[in-house]
Amino acid sequence: MKKILFVFVMFSLAMISCGETKKEDVKKEVETTKEVTKEAPAASSDMLAMGEKLFTDKTCVSCHQLDAKIVGPSIKDIVKVYDQYDASLVAFLKGEKEAIVETDPGQVAIMKANLDGFVKDLKEEELEALAAYMKSAK
Ligand code: HEC
Repeated sequence: MKKILFVFVMFSLAMISCGETKKEDVKKEVETTKEVTKEAPAASSDMLAMGEKLFTDKTCVSCHQLDAKIVGPSIKDIVKVYDQYDASLVAFLKGEKEAIVETDPGQVAIMKANLDGFVKDLKEEELEALAAYMKSAK
């Protein structure tokens, strides 16, 4: 009888410790998922900061203000049209897509000069940062 009891106790202990490791595994998994989600906004705020800096450093700001048209359309107007057509700012900046905000040839030529000039030297991630900044600035 004692022996059976002993086996039973050992068995229960094994079950309990098994259960505990499982619980810990789950906890670990939850923690890793948390870390991933924690990092995502940080990365995107870095991206926004990079985009904002590029927008100034690369002189975009001298032709594009947030709210008012100067030489080029305002950031808000650009983003509104791009949202409306679900279009890609990055594709436009890469020169893959025609202008959709202002299609007057004289105006398009001004922006095209930038695309052919310095914008083509920007890296993919820089273009994405610029686009993310413009979208966030609306
Ligand atoms: C010398 C002035 C000037 C500078 C500098 C300039 N732009 Fe423009 N941009 C314009 C003009 C003018 C238009 C309107 C013509 C057009 O829409 O293509 C325009 C249009 C745009 C559009 C809308 C394109 C469309 O679909 O109609 C985007 C997006 C844009 N600019 C982004 C930028 C970014 C990003 C920079 C900096 C890397 C920049 N621009 C620098 C003058 C400028």
